[in-house]
Amino acid sequence: MFVESEKNVSKLKNFWVEFFADRRDGGHRSSDEEFIFMEAKEKLFHLDGGKTLLDFGCGAGELLVYYAPEYEQLVGVDFSESMLDEASKKIKERKYDNISLIQADDKTVWDKLECSFDRITAAGVIQFFTLQELDSFISNASNYLNKGGKIVLFDILDPRLYPLWKMGLFSQDADLWKILRKIGFEFKVMLSASLSNRPRDILGFAHNPYAVKKIADRYGFETIFVKSMYYEYKYHAIISRTSEAQKV
Ligand SMILES: C[S@@+](CC[C@H](N)C(=O)[O-])C[C@H]1O[C@@H](n2cnc3c(N)ncnc32)[C@H](O)[C@@H]1O
Repeated sequence: MFVESEKNVSKLKNFWVEFFADRRDGGHRSSDEEFIFMEAKEKLFHLDGGKTLLDFGCGAGELLVYYAPEYEQLVGVDFSESMLDEASKKIKERKYDNISLIQADDKTVWDKLECSFDRITAAGVIQFFTLQELDSFISNASNYLNKGGKIVLFDILDPRLYPLWKMGLFSQDADLWKILRKIGFEFKVMLSASLSNRPRDILGFAHNPYAVKKIADRYGFETIFVKSMYYEYKYHAIISRTSEAQKV
């Protein structure tokens, strides 16, 4: 089972709450509208339909506004007020009246929901969860998922590829000297983070796909893993109850 102590989990949660308290974008590789549009199209392909969608950790609504024309009702959830402000601006500019926003975290959101959903998604979010938190997220989400529904977790950091990416091995101009410098830099960052009790990586935890699958299995789901098209060190987990989907 998971080993993180309750004190550590709440310390980490406070760190991420503060970290996102004044952020106004989701940190996509490019903030270019064309790039975000392509990312959203990839995600819509994997979301694969449904009429209602919960976007957990919707951030500034960068993807949510592209999901909006494809769904009847959408709910965006985030614990960061500044992110939700940005999301609200985008929704108003584009005149969508099918999206509601809720300020909540992974513990408090469930009591604030008024319906269940065909799709529950989170893009670039579960890296800020410990495995314990991911377990309760999937357990709670399964109670708010309609028959034939899916939980689609996008852009999970892959522990097998992320360290290589950080060392610069995927970059066009990688050479031994640059790689050694990056390793030295990462080592210093990690050391100073552990001395000051901060998370070792500002992008959060890299969760092994087998650990994600084990949790999903526990709640009777089947999981398919897909490589992210736009981030070579991330993957998506598409979690569903296949036999149920066939009945609908
Ligand atoms: C990297 S951003 C991604 C935003 C958005 N999904 C996107 O792709 O543009 C992560 C978002 O998750 C939110 N977040 C992280 N942990 C959360 C939690 N436990 N509860 C609610 N929101 C959370 C942050 O505030 C932030 O807006």
